[in-house]
Amino acid sequence: MPLLIKNGEIVTADSRYKADIYVEAEQITRIGTGLEIPPGTEVIDATGKLVFPGFIDPHVHVYLPFMATFAKDTHETASVAALIGGTTTYIEMCCPSRMDDTLEGYQLWRSKAEGHSACDYTFHMSVTKFDDKTADQLEQIVKDGISSFKIFLAYKNFFGVDDGEMYQTLALAKKLGVIVTAHCENAELVSRLQERLLAEGKTGPEWHEPSRPESVEAEGTGRFATFLENIGATGYVVHLSCQPALHKAIAAKARGVKLSIESVLPHFLLDKTYAERPGVEGMKHVMSPPLRDKRNQGVLWNALAAGLIDTVGTDHCPFETGQKELGRDAFTQIPNGIPGIEDRVNLLYTAGVKAGRLDIHRFVDAASTKAAKLFGLYPRKGALAEGSDADIVVFDPDCRGVISAKGQHTNNDYNGFEGMQIQGRPAVVTVRGKVQVEDGKFVGNPTRGQFLKREPQHF
Ligand code: URP
Ligand code: ZN
Ligand code: ZN
Repeated sequence: MPLLIKNGEIVTADSRYKADIYVEAEQITRIGTGLEIPPGTEVIDATGKLVFPGFIDPHVHVYLPFMATFAKDTHETASVAALIGGTTTYIEMCCPSRMDDTLEGYQLWRSKAEGHSACDYTFHMSVTKFDDKTADQLEQIVKDGISSFKIFLAYKNFFGVDDGEMYQTLALAKKLGVIVTAHCENAELVSRLQERLLAEGKTGPEWHEPSRPESVEAEGTGRFATFLENIGATGYVVHLSCQPALHKAIAAKARGVKLSIESVLPHFLLDKTYAERPGVEGMKHVMSPPLRDKRNQGVLWNALAAGLIDTVGTDHCPFETGQKELGRDAFTQIPNGIPGIEDRVNLLYTAGVKAGRLDIHRFVDAASTKAAKLFGLYPRKGALAEGSDADIVVFDPDCRGVISAKGQHTNNDYNGFEGMQIQGRPAVVTVRGKVQVEDGKFVGNPTRGQFLKREPQHF
């Protein structure tokens, strides 16, 4: 059935105006005023509402075997949580370990999502080793519609690659027209510092940050940029958390390295004192790179507002309290991760746009459009334009609420942002023209989500 969203104020990465949006066969076909519509059209009145392009989370973990356990979400839970929070597309990290076969890993991750997601999705393909089979397998995966890789410079002996493997991955990516996303921390330093702290009896979650200090992330960021520069590949730093790493990345951008920067919700809103809380309360706030000294938050907000930080993701990665307790005797055993897929848009709007830190167009760009452009989804996604997929968020800026684990849709027993106020939330969310969320509730088709095939790009 065709759909009309009328009387709303359309806000995109570069425009703001009042108009109606008409949707047929999953796509936006007309935008304007006084549109003539056929009888039987479903009509949504967006008076007083903002109308945004569907938001895109470029950094999500759903299926994730990691640190002796599994992240808690399935695509059924993560995609509904995403949609309620206004995210209509997510990019999941496909993360087989070094011990796994790359192609089998890719097929496994795809099978976990296929027919189980309420929103659209794609993957960054992790390259966690580079052996005789890797190049052929990655070419096959790119032909299947994946045009971004992921490497970890951290997590030695599990996901982490060494410099030789990074070189090979970047060289192949350049040849194939693939962008490489990277977790940038020096694995060797992290592991030595962990050993030293544990040997000194420093076992609690408050020692997680000192085991991976800012300089260790800055080193990884700088090294990744140097490799990109010398190979001519295109890269994207994920979850950049602090000023020294930002300086490395900006310096690289300034000298022409093709590098984009992502920071994630926890690093804008939470600081290391959360991980210093006693016992499991601290463990709930352990992620990598760690929550940092609060002085970094203003730096991240300013860099985001200025467009130096390109995108805001979540690094959504839910481990419940019982799993966090695996690290009761040693912070190195605490499963790393903080969920946030349901809250990213609302908290970024509240703490960014409403608080006057972030222009509303930069907000749309950082939470949707820029990721679509970087990862080969634009203008199908990240835009409100004729011919774009009808992924539309009708946002109520007058809604007020408080973040709480109670009633959340993410499969987890806590929320790292518990108690934070929100000013605004999605009222209606569509995926390719089908209403999936209404009045803040999931009302749609739990299997509507599609795998998004992406083409290599000529950077
Ligand atoms: O702590 C985190 N970030 N957990 C997920 C794995 C990763 O590094 O992205
Ligand atoms: Zn990471
Ligand atoms: Zn991650």
